[in-house]
Formats: sequence, structure tokens, C-alpha cells
Amino acid sequence: MADPRLEVIGRRLAGVKKIIAVSSGKGGVGKSMIATTLALALSRRGYRVGLLDLDFTSPATHVILGVEGLQPEEEKGIIPPVAHGLRYMSIVFYAVDEPAPLRGAAVSEAIIELMAITRWGELDYLVIDMPPGIGDATLDMIRLTPGISFLAVTTPSRVAFETVRKLLRLLRELEVPVVGVVENMVMNPSSRVRSQVEGIGIPYLGAIVFDPEVEEALGDVERLMGTRFAEAVGRIASELSQQIP
Ligand SMILES: Nc1ncnc2c1ncn2[C@@H]1O[C@H](COP(=O)(O)OP(=O)(O)OP(=O)(O)O)[C@@H](O)[C@H]1O
Ligand SMILES: [Mg+2]
Repeated sequence: MADPRLEVIGRRLAGVKKIIAVSSGKGGVGKSMIATTLALALSRRGYRVGLLDLDFTSPATHVILGVEGLQPEEEKGIIPPVAHGLRYMSIVFYAVDEPAPLRGAAVSEAIIELMAITRWGELDYLVIDMPPGIGDATLDMIRLTPGISFLAVTTPSRVAFETVRKLLRLLRELEVPVVGVVENMVMNPSSRVRSQVEGIGIPYLGAIVFDPEVEEALGDVERLMGTRFAEAVGRIASELSQQIP
């Protein structure tokens, strides 16, 4: 028998126009920074935006937003609290200071549960910060989330890009839309990644410079939004909102 929660998830997401999962084949490439900043940038452009942190092992968006101590409201499910204008949901609300990582089936269970209880309401964009790599969480989200699309993050490193290429191939095989690839932590501008991305027929959404200011701005949204990093993410937000009005 089909899990009745799957139908509930469809209803929970019915008011969300566009779902963008920020993902990469590789860890540490800036997914959480980009997901959070992209959500803030879209929100500042007047859109209704949700941010979902799905990194069960090392959630980070609450640190970037500086919202430790926030709690969701329970009412026929869970209403995500508003953080800096975003409807914000994270696994940290439920697994505070639990050092033991969830494994295998427990990860799927937690994802289904979280997706089934969260009431997003009406949103233009739901941005999802995905855990690193192509794992169960990726496949679960594809299976659970009608209308999901992916934004892939790479760095200029060939090591990173090869894992992203693998992710893009998987998404193509599963017929999951990809909004584009972002190249992060660029120090020496080069068109190598751009031409490879375009070569496989996927939009290259832009390069983000390596910006030492980012570390200082963690937890301080106003400061973050004033960085060159945020400026570059803002250009990507504008590009995306033209692509998906
Ligand atoms: N463009 C940038 N310039 C400078 N530092 C950056 C940039 N992008 C990300 N960082 C820094 O790199 C580190 C990793 O970023 P982040 O946590 O967003 O990566 P991630 O891909 O989400 O990692 P994980 O795979 O562990 O979830 C952070 O300390 C972040 O502040
Ligand atoms: Mg992360």
C-alpha cells in the first residue's frame, strides 16, 4: 500500500510555485551559503520565499541566518517560523544537539515526516539546501516532490565538476529539470566550467567570486547581503526570476 503521507506532501506543496533544490555531487562547495543567500535575494526582490534545510548530518543555514533558538508553531502540522522574511524550516528544530547521525531508512523517514508536516502555504519559491553528494536524500526528494528542480553548485576544481557532471547525468536520466549550474569560489576567472556546462546543454547561471568577507558575515544577514558574494548571488536570483517569473 502506498504511504498515505505521500499524498499529504503533494497537498503541502500545492501552493508552492517553484521548488529549487541546491545540490552538488561534492561537499563544501557552498551549497548552504548559496541556498540561504539566494532565498534572501529572491525575498528582497519581492517574492514569497521558503528555505528548507535538509542537511540532516550538518545543518548550517541557521548559523548563516543567525537564528538559533527559533521554533516553529504547531497547528494542524507545522508552520515554519519567519526568519529575515523567509519561511524557514530546518531539521535542527527537531534534532537539536543530537550528535548521532541518522542512517539509511531513518533519513528517508525523517524527510517524509518533515515534508508531510510542514505547511508552507503560498510561496513563489521554496529553496532547499541539500546534503552533500548524490545520496538517498536526493533520490527521496525526487520521488516525494512533484515539480522539484535542481540548481547544481560546483567550484572551478575539476574534482568538484566531475561529481556535478555525474549529478547532472542522473537528473537527466530521471527527467528532473535543472535550472542551471553555479560556479562558486572563483579566484582566477576562466571559461572552462562555463563551456563544459553549456556543452552538456545546461544553463550556466554565473560565477561567484571567492570572497573572504563571507566568513565574517556568518550570522549577520545585513552584513552578508552587503558582500560581493551576495551581489553575485543576487545576479543569479535576477536571472532565475526571469527564467521562472
Ligand atoms: N564564494 C565564497 N567565498 C568565500 N567563502 C565561501 C564562499 N562560498 C562558501 N564559502 C565558505 O565555504 C564554506 C563551505 O560553505 P557551505 O557550508 O555553504 O558549503 P556546503 O556545500 O553547504 O557544505 P556541505 O557539503 O558540508 O553542506 C563555508 O565556511 C562558507 O562560508
Ligand atoms: Mg551545506
